[in-house]
Amino acid sequence: MHAMTLEAQPYTLMPGEIDHGKPFLPERFTPLAHTSLYEKLSPEQRLRYNQLTGMLFNEQFMFFESLLGECLLLPVIARADDPELREGLRHFMEEEKRHSEVFAELNRRCAPDLYRDSRFHFLHMPPAWMRAMRWTASRANRFPFLLWLITIQEERAVAYARGFEAEEGGLEPHFADIQRKHLADEMSHVEYDDLLVERYWDSARPAVRRVNARLLSWTLFEFFCAPRRSGVKVVDHLIRAHGDLLPLRPEILASFRSLDRSPEYVRSMYGPDVIPETLEKMRAYPEFASFLSRLETACAPREGQTP
Ligand SMILES: [Fe+2]
Ligand SMILES: [Fe+2]
Repeated sequence: MHAMTLEAQPYTLMPGEIDHGKPFLPERFTPLAHTSLYEKLSPEQRLRYNQLTGMLFNEQFMFFESLLGECLLLPVIARADDPELREGLRHFMEEEKRHSEVFAELNRRCAPDLYRDSRFHFLHMPPAWMRAMRWTASRANRFPFLLWLITIQEERAVAYARGFEAEEGGLEPHFADIQRKHLADEMSHVEYDDLLVERYWDSARPAVRRVNARLLSWTLFEFFCAPRRSGVKVVDHLIRAHGDLLPLRPEILASFRSLDRSPEYVRSMYGPDVIPETLEKMRAYPEFASFLSRLETACAPREGQTP
């Protein structure tokens, strides 16, 4: 574990202006592309929706990376008894911090007006919820479900970066480049995630694990599946520039709400092609049986639906 490579990755943003004529991310990563309403958007509206979602996407990375670094890792590092491990975790934390800085810089370059005063424009967490999340994250021994949440998000980050790689030629070059660099760093993080799970999950009492497995299931489906407030903010931003979409707003929001029940969408978020390793690890823990079966049901094609 400690023998992992620690060479610093040159994690910097390429110079040059953003190409606003190209999508910022593969279409299948954007929620609206998973609904029939997408067909009603003009090519120009689709492109702008894609770009706005790309910026939200960067904000989501920043959110998870700062939750992991500032809240979760700091106390874990302070408690780590082994200096080599402490050093490795500190390096891990520094990398996540750097990623967040570069994602923020990329968004500022895309839309200086939106990000003049804050690193977050679309992602909105109610302050009380944010405080609760930070409080929980800094107590990994009592709430180790967050380690699994982060493990899931990190494996998703790797799958997403591979998706960028596959469509690189057609995407905005700064976005494709930063995802390529992100992939290199994130692959090594998986080892740290495993170590943290080993330390905090495996040593927790069975009752704590059972409660935390339920917390993971609730948090994931409630907050990190179908688009909620941030997805609506993206749509409203799009509508401000394309007023002809206003009559479609109620339908779009309803279609977002229904994405939780769309097997194709849930699979694209947490399916076996996206987080295979995490799902495999979870199968070793009986406390995740109900979460895994809920996820499997949510991903299974329904009768009359194309897989
Ligand atoms: Fe990262
Ligand atoms: Fe990471």
